Amino acid sequence: MNILKILQMKGKEPIVVVTAYDYFSAKVCDRAGIDMILVGDSLGNVVLGYESTLNVEMEDMERHIMAVRRGAPNSFIIGDMPFMSYQISDEEGIKNAGRLMKAGANAVKVEGGERVSSLVRKLVDAGIPVMGHIGLTPQSVNQIGGYRVQGKGPDKERMMRSAKSLENAGIFSIVLELTVEETAKSITESLSIPTIGIGAGRYCDGQVLVWHDLLGINDGKVPKFVKKYANLNEEIETALLEYIKDVKSRTFPAENNIFKEE
Ligand code: KIV
Repeated sequence: MNILKILQMKGKEPIVVVTAYDYFSAKVCDRAGIDMILVGDSLGNVVLGYESTLNVEMEDMERHIMAVRRGAPNSFIIGDMPFMSYQISDEEGIKNAGRLMKAGANAVKVEGGERVSSLVRKLVDAGIPVMGHIGLTPQSVNQIGGYRVQGKGPDKERMMRSAKSLENAGIFSIVLELTVEETAKSITESLSIPTIGIGAGRYCDGQVLVWHDLLGINDGKVPKFVKKYANLNEEIETALLEYIKDVKSRTFPAENNIFKEE
């Protein structure tokens, strides 16, 4: 996979993206034939247990991108630029994007509309492919006032302008998060690059889901836009309860789990 193939998929074949954060999940993504893997800063929530993505550091992103790259040496990997790694200056943004590329990413993702367009232009000039991210942008949750659906009423025009400005700056694709379907559809139709939706309805060029939501690893309720394809949290708990029972009852280790002198 490369950005040319991704661009060619628009209008022809839906693009499948999933987040992954470690070696083994990356290996499964690679085997399953996922089109692109996103090492999202959602790792702050689902791996590190933070309330939001704001606490994620560059070092967290680098470590997890390196693990995912080791598990999926041939996959197309996008690394999320964490909060405050690109907001201070374009120069810092370029330096930090370079760090994620050196860790093994094929592209980086930045949140925001027109305000990040100048950075996008500079990253693309430096040879770094960029994915945009508009709609609900979790790094701005305090400014947005919560995790609310975006693109309603007059907000549609603002989102369409943002998407166009990012496309003009050179992004190769864009995430539309938690956005009303009509707005996501209009943006998808107005761009020549693929849109990747998460809670943005049926008409995007591709879809992305968070690993833990898709596989039911989270113990809480998942948002309405998620489809759970497995219930691993329950399966893991059942397995652990069985393990506890076996150890407590001395059923494990059994004869076939032990070593004896020949
Ligand atoms: O961090 C992340 O996982 C993301 C997706 C929700 C698109 O940005």
